[in-house]
Amino acid sequence: DHPHTADLVVFGGTGDLAMRKLIPALYHSDRDGRLSPESRVIAMSRGGLTDADFRGKVDAEVRDQVPADDQAGWQRFLGRLHHVSVDVGRDVAGRNTGGGTDGGTGGTDRRGWGALARLLAGHEQRDRVFYLASPPRTFGPFCRELDEAGLVTPRSRVVLEKPLGHDLTSAQRINDEVGAIFDERQIFRIDHYLGKETVQNLLVLRFANAFLEPIWNSLWIDHVQITAAETVGTPGRRGYYDHAGALRDMVQNHLLQLLTLTAMEPPARSDREAVRDEKVKVLQALRPITGTEVERFTVRGQYVGADGMPGYLDEPASTPPTEASRRVETFTAIRAEVKNWRWAGVPFYLRTGKRMPYRRSEIVVQFKDVPHSIYPGGAPNRLVLRLQPEEGIRLDIMAKIPGAGEVTLKPVPLSLSFGETFSARVPEAYERLLTDVLAGNPTLFMRRDEVEAAWRWIDPILHAWESQAELPEPYPAGTTGPAGAHELLGRSGRAWHEEGA
Ligand code: BG6
Repeated sequence: DHPHTADLVVFGGTGDLAMRKLIPALYHSDRDGRLSPESRVIAMSRGGLTDADFRGKVDAEVRDQVPADDQAGWQRFLGRLHHVSVDVGRDVAGRNTGGGTDGGTGGTDRRGWGALARLLAGHEQRDRVFYLASPPRTFGPFCRELDEAGLVTPRSRVVLEKPLGHDLTSAQRINDEVGAIFDERQIFRIDHYLGKETVQNLLVLRFANAFLEPIWNSLWIDHVQITAAETVGTPGRRGYYDHAGALRDMVQNHLLQLLTLTAMEPPARSDREAVRDEKVKVLQALRPITGTEVERFTVRGQYVGADGMPGYLDEPASTPPTEASRRVETFTAIRAEVKNWRWAGVPFYLRTGKRMPYRRSEIVVQFKDVPHSIYPGGAPNRLVLRLQPEEGIRLDIMAKIPGAGEVTLKPVPLSLSFGETFSARVPEAYERLLTDVLAGNPTLFMRRDEVEAAWRWIDPILHAWESQAELPEPYPAGTTGPAGAHELLGRSGRAWHEEGA
């Protein structure tokens, strides 16, 4: 199958995400033959760069990811890159953001849209992908501009980066604005966790193996833990993070996506809507956390300086901390529940934080203890799906420690490391997702109803937190979060999964 020729237009094309993730992912796709020879990547930014400037910038910033034996491939890739300057300062941000040049685009050029139109003219039959890696307030206006410039063809798609709004209302507004120009089947909402190998493997593990599904329910499973722990803090990100916080930044999207894939019913097919239909049912079955339950079932924390690491309020930033900075959570833990037949009474504990002692994302399925124990010292089985750092699946089973004396038990791992088992390079999440966008496959993207169902569950927690007088619980940088996070499990005799690999 030959890949279609595509024009990929990236808004925010010189930004952090583009330079760190999108451009390298496109290069790897090109190298693996997933971009047709004529496909182009057109970066849009306020930068006032020429094509040559942009290629130089990419060469300088990305070249160290290019293998020594692919210099020719790299030059070919650079040749695909174009840059169009677009001045979004005035009408999109609602104020003149000043600074920078507008790339010399004249008044008649409608601040760059004309230049884009000229570049795309004559290529209406190609797949056209508009990738909005720009702030969410630009999504609606950009879609309108594209439409007014006559650039939205039947073969066009639009990709939306997070954050998709900051609450249900704003998410609905963005969805309405984008939906006024593009059909839902043309809209690809990115959650890069869905591109991670282990996440897709979770579905394969569950639905391509016979032994798990019969025990994947409240009869056999005690609880589930979903953790995304990061060692990084938020240096230089306060402007964004003060108004986001861990709940919006990680839980509304990444953690809830992992929860839906863990909890969903078996879909009838692996295709587009079947998987998403099942996922949205899980979100709709989440028991709302409201009123006094917010205090019982949610924990928010903020890291403070320790061991030479700065606290959140002391991180380098262009402006001093404000009240919003003091109130924002850099850690959260939540006890969620999926109210349906399969999961009744099984807690799903979610946890994420910055400046934790390790970088680790995993789903831990904790089984119940054996119904009747004949050996002392056993522990319940546990299945660990590790997303990062090393991707793998591990099942802890009980074994007898060799010896002639009394039977002594020990949990030992049956372990699969994807890196060791498959020697192929594991593609970055963005590579997989960009490939799917180019192929028009939306399975691993969030549908409108999914995003909104997720916000519907998050909103009451946000509101309750906003009305609480207390600040988030402090936790020293480099630790596993505030005491409250441990009490959340401890009061039902459970504990977070902490031990090593
Ligand atoms: C992003 C968040 O969506 O995910 C960041 O905005 C976070 O705050 C990142 O660091 C984590 O992604 P990953 O792939 O490193 O787990």
